[in-house]
Amino acid sequence: MLRAALVALATLATFCAAVAERRPVIISTDPGIDDSIALLLALASPELDVRAVCINFGSLHNTSQLAQNALDVLSFAGREDIPVFLGATSVQLPASGAHANTSLSAAEFIAHACRSWHPAPLLVSLAPLTNVALALSLEPKLPELCPDLYLMGGTVIEPGNVGPMSEANIGNDPEAAARVFAAGFETKVASLDVTRPSWLSPDFLGKVRDLPNPAGPFIWEITRFYERAYETVGYEGGMPLHDPTAVLLHLKPEFYQLHRWPVTVDTSPFPSVSRGVLLVDRRGGPKSPPPPASDKVHFPMHVDAAAVHEFLLARIGSLPTGDVFSA
Ligand SMILES: *[C@@H]1O[C@H](CO)[C@@H](O)[C@H](O)[C@H]1NC(C)=O
Ligand SMILES: *[C@@H]1O[C@H](CO)[C@@H](O)[C@H](O)[C@H]1NC(C)=O
Repeated sequence: MLRAALVALATLATFCAAVAERRPVIISTDPGIDDSIALLLALASPELDVRAVCINFGSLHNTSQLAQNALDVLSFAGREDIPVFLGATSVQLPASGAHANTSLSAAEFIAHACRSWHPAPLLVSLAPLTNVALALSLEPKLPELCPDLYLMGGTVIEPGNVGPMSEANIGNDPEAAARVFAAGFETKVASLDVTRPSWLSPDFLGKVRDLPNPAGPFIWEITRFYERAYETVGYEGGMPLHDPTAVLLHLKPEFYQLHRWPVTVDTSPFPSVSRGVLLVDRRGGPKSPPPPASDKVHFPMHVDAAAVHEFLLARIGSLPTGDVFSA
């Protein structure tokens, strides 16, 4: 199945190459099931030219394993041409990294690409912000060179997922998040406030499974474990749409209502219960004047979930079908 799928999707490169005006994208990620869906969504999107995948610790500390997961998804999509760079790890591991490019670290690569690519790449972070923060320390002008940052992380008013009000990507490296939020990127935050309301129902996942291309059944297969994990904590089937939302915020901003609000990140030392909480100032009015123009962090607080689902299904469905091997 995987082999056949690989052959079927090998045409993806040419399929996407036909479209002009594609924005180069660097994805920093810790794959990860919904990271993999986000990656496939980006690969299926003719507006985007995924040029590199940077590995950041997060869902696992073993970045070699995370790199292998990323390489597997790229291989499934017939896109072994996209380089994978090893990035921030919280523990020192032998950089086995399979076929990852180890000549540059992820942070060095991001800094290099932002200095030399025209147009500048879009930065998409689906993991803790460690790689982006390290790139920022290598190149302080990063927010000018690469202004557009889309990240999955945090929550404004939804309950957290690793603490009462903290989300995993921010909670796993609040210091990095604090530096990145304060740096002046034009930032769009795919927070739990919209990723949970974009919940994929079992009925929707069934439609993905029934798509007439290999990507649909592949996504259905990899989400089985994820869906069961949510069931064991009391959800009645389905899963939230975390990481793909960061990509969707770029592709379809009209599906969301964005607010520009000042934000700081709580970096109280572990084990403070507030560590990793985003302090988003939504007061407005005379006591809380509008944020200065230099403050460019945007939070979506409403999502047209039906529109998201329809678009996601269409995009995944647009990946090449398996008819090359049905003969
Ligand atoms: C990390 O993952 C790699 C690749 O799967 C594996 O070979 C290695 O043993 C793992 N390291 C640890 C410390 O678990
Ligand atoms: C690794 O990436 C760098 C930067 O894009 C490139 O110059 C180099 O040739 C790559 N190395 C390998 C082994 O692919």
